[in-house]
Amino acid sequence: MGICGYFTVSWKCLVVLSFRLLFLVPAGLPVHSQGESQTDSKVMDNITVRQGENVFLRCAQGDIVTHTAWLNRSSILYAGEDKWSVDPRVSLVTLNQEEFTIKIEDVDMTDEGPYICAVQTSSRPRTTSVHILVQVPPTIINLSKDLVVNEGSNVTLMCQASGKPEPSLTWKLLSPSVDLVSEDEYLDIPSISRQRAGTYECTAINDIATDVQTVEITVNYAPSVSEGRDVGVTLGQRGVLECEVDAVPKADFEWYRDDRRIFNGLDGMEIEDAGQLSKLTFLNISEADYGNYTCIAINKLGSSNASFVLYEVIEPTSSTLVQGPGAVQDGNSGSMGTHVHTYTCLLLVILLPFLLKF
Ligand SMILES: *[C@@H]1O[C@H](CO)[C@@H](O)[C@H](O)[C@H]1NC(C)=O
Ligand SMILES: *[C@@H]1O[C@H](CO)[C@@H](O)[C@H](O)[C@H]1NC(C)=O
Ligand SMILES: *[C@@H]1O[C@H](CO)[C@@H](O)[C@H](O)[C@H]1NC(C)=O
Ligand SMILES: *[C@@H]1O[C@H](CO)[C@@H](O)[C@H](O)[C@H]1NC(C)=O
Ligand SMILES: *[C@@H]1O[C@H](CO)[C@@H](O)[C@H](O)[C@H]1NC(C)=O
Ligand SMILES: *[C@@H]1O[C@H](CO)[C@@H](O)[C@H](O)[C@H]1NC(C)=O
Ligand SMILES: *[C@@H]1O[C@H](CO)[C@@H](O)[C@H](O)[C@H]1NC(C)=O
Repeated sequence: MGICGYFTVSWKCLVVLSFRLLFLVPAGLPVHSQGESQTDSKVMDNITVRQGENVFLRCAQGDIVTHTAWLNRSSILYAGEDKWSVDPRVSLVTLNQEEFTIKIEDVDMTDEGPYICAVQTSSRPRTTSVHILVQVPPTIINLSKDLVVNEGSNVTLMCQASGKPEPSLTWKLLSPSVDLVSEDEYLDIPSISRQRAGTYECTAINDIATDVQTVEITVNYAPSVSEGRDVGVTLGQRGVLECEVDAVPKADFEWYRDDRRIFNGLDGMEIEDAGQLSKLTFLNISEADYGNYTCIAINKLGSSNASFVLYEVIEPTSSTLVQGPGAVQDGNSGSMGTHVHTYTCLLLVILLPFLLKF
């Protein structure tokens, strides 16, 4: 018991001494302890370790080492074979005359800092310090939510990331046509246009890894229908008027004949809406169907219209078809026939005197 008590006391003494030497006592001040005038302090290279990995702390020993310890800042992790740390991640790997090595598993940010190996030899204490630097892969922790805005709004996107070393952030629009980028956690888009709707990507990058997240921006704008075209259809045929719109959100369509609204399935007309296109179909055009039609596309931001004139086309009937090109051909052969006749006649007139001589 006495030995043990003495051991502990002397250990505490060594530790306190080491710390006075390391941090508290300015260099050069005399230390009143059995004539030793100096302490060997050595700084090892920093150890860089990624979060979650294990790290080994190795300290060279010597023949005449009497006591040895590994410390995390001012608290002892191991004093010789005795574990002082309550942290289950800390364990002894090797303790012999050459080395004193401990292991810290699953390293985290809080483990970053100076670790000291304090060695007491018969002559003088010796300390070696090593700095553990913990690297953490970037994680985007705060990102703007998906947005729906009206065209012309001022938009600011935000992306914040954690990590060590501090990650750098960039924004870009995932669209080949627009070259919009920012090298910052904020992306300002003043007076947003419809071309800048789309998927925006935030990239957080540091020496060890990359994290990528995306934000969707929807830009609403009022409909604009493409110019109406006049359409000619033959009586009794099928006729189609097509109204094409560009709108976000999707537009609703209305069709009018002059001022009268047209409804699907009535009067031999069908209305079919498919996304950005509405078709008004006449199943069997009658005389009364010819006239002026208007398509109106409406969403919550406005409306747009286009007018179409449906006019009659007189299709060549089957008889005119036969008479058409055929008649021309007849005419040709007829005229040729006349030619031949004239020629024969001329020949006769020229030859007649000769014929009459016989
Ligand atoms: C170790 O890291 C500390 C803290 O980052 C730094 O101040 C010191 O210069 C580094 N030492 C070496 C030897 O790299
Ligand atoms: C080292 O000390 C820091 C600060 O007290 C603590 O948060 C960390 O868990 C310690 N690490 C080890 C491996 O003892
Ligand atoms: C995210 O950023 C917003 C705006 O700066 C802030 O109010 C919020 O507290 C942040 N959230 C987190 C988890 O950091
Ligand atoms: C957008 O920002 C500009 C300049 O900062 C400002 O003049 C304008 O009023 C803003 N527009 C909206 C819709 O807030
Ligand atoms: C179209 O309507 C006319 C007159 O009502 C009718 O004679 C004709 O058979 C119809 N055509 C078709 C393909 O339904
Ligand atoms: C068709 O109707 C629209 C709307 O009523 C009108 O603006 C347009 O001039 C008309 N077109 C013709 C050719 O009458
Ligand atoms: C069609 O659009 C014009 C402007 O482009 C507008 O003046 C007119 O009132 C619209 N007509 C209808 C029926 O909405």
